[in-house]
Amino acid sequence: MERRLYVETYGCQMNVADSELMLGQLGRAGYRRVEKPEDADVILVNTCAIREHAEQRIYGRLGELTRHKVRRPGVILGVAGCMAQHLRNRLIERVPQVDLVVGPDGYRRLPELIDEARDEPTLSVRLSRVETYGDLAPARADGVRAWVSIMRGCDKFCAFCIVPYVGGRERSLPADEVMRQVEHAAAEGFREIVFLGQTVNAYRDPEAGVDFAELLRRANRVEGIARIRFTSPHPSDMTEGVIRAMAECEKVPPHLHLPLQSGSDAVLSSMRRIYTMSEYEALVARFRSAIPGIALSTDIIVGFPGETEKDFEATRRAMERLDYESAFIFKYSPRPGARSAEWPETVSEEEKTRRITLLIEEQKARSLRKNETDVDRTVEVLVEGPTKRSQDEWFGKSAHFKTTIFPHRGERIGDLLRVSVAAATPHAILGEGVRAASCAGTEDVLV
Ligand code: SAH
Ligand code: SF4
Ligand code: F3S
Repeated sequence: MERRLYVETYGCQMNVADSELMLGQLGRAGYRRVEKPEDADVILVNTCAIREHAEQRIYGRLGELTRHKVRRPGVILGVAGCMAQHLRNRLIERVPQVDLVVGPDGYRRLPELIDEARDEPTLSVRLSRVETYGDLAPARADGVRAWVSIMRGCDKFCAFCIVPYVGGRERSLPADEVMRQVEHAAAEGFREIVFLGQTVNAYRDPEAGVDFAELLRRANRVEGIARIRFTSPHPSDMTEGVIRAMAECEKVPPHLHLPLQSGSDAVLSSMRRIYTMSEYEALVARFRSAIPGIALSTDIIVGFPGETEKDFEATRRAMERLDYESAFIFKYSPRPGARSAEWPETVSEEEKTRRITLLIEEQKARSLRKNETDVDRTVEVLVEGPTKRSQDEWFGKSAHFKTTIFPHRGERIGDLLRVSVAAATPHAILGEGVRAASCAGTEDVLV
């Protein structure tokens, strides 16, 4: 009997890639993917634990999904990913309808685990030092972009972060397995490769003598691939070799996501980020001189324990100096298990809100100003498809990773298109002939 599988994904791109991995693994075991939970025999939720809010949202969603079990008691409800690893059997205690809890290192055995879960609640939360899934083909979603996890886990143990506890130790895929995936993605028609890892630039395959810089160079030679991106690099793992490879590989666009977290040395040190502000700024200066015009984006946390008004002001000024194109800004959320969860919170919720609001407003103005520099210029866009709003207006990313909206004139998904930019918003740049209505609310035009 054919079995039907529904997968829902939360969290970062690594989870998106892991869901594709699970779909591949279960596809080989005879499962067919369905788009709605009501059509499924197995419902899998791939979860995130990075902030408390993420977990709350998922609890809410699990509550909704349990009704499928009430109507059809044979349905298996499985929870995968970081929250599964974090909470283990506490998840089943809180949501007793959950049949399967599987952490990020248990996906190879997913078909067997689901079979076991038909008989009794099943838990698979052992972390592995070696599992990389490099030999398992993922079932990738259609589109222009193929996510390729090149390393797993994290050894940095930043004080605020749960990832090393739920993702396990840092380990890289063998270089030949990475390259096989890249070549396979190219053969399937994907045009952009995104290398993924929590400290992606720490990638290394000592046996093959391949580091992250060499991996970029090898991927750059793969025919059919137009762009190679990666996320997230750690500032302390950045090497001259990577800067040079980025500058020299024509398929690696001039964009870098480089998480800063805080602009205060005192906070960076208690966060255990292992770089200082001046080291970070020196690194950015090297990138800017090697790759003129490179676009930078970042991650920032406000309200970390001990963050004073002065520290916060240092972050504000750092963001201004570094002149980011865009930034993800978060309120600090204590994560039980991570080191700083033991430390008393010193910044009130109201104060966190004030700080985040200020940074978001300032970044929005900065993003608009940066996007306006593209007006009256031509940018190269990798075409992704129609916007949510209209079949006549399509979108893609520019080389600087800016969402670009343009009137559709017969281009196909995956084309590289030159767009002359006529207007900008804080969230997008707009080609000539894009309706004025699209200028407002470009946040929600994407599919
Ligand atoms: N490995 C990446 C980040 C992964 S998590 C890196 O080191 O850069 C993505 C972002 O979530 C982080 O950069 C950080 O800004 C944010 N984050 C992680 N833990 C958090 C927490 N406990 N509270 C608030 N934000 C957090
Ligand atoms: Fe978390 Fe730090 Fe590792 Fe990033 S580098 S995943 S923030 S511990
Ligand atoms: Fe979340 Fe896990 Fe990614 S905690 S951010 S899904 S690595």
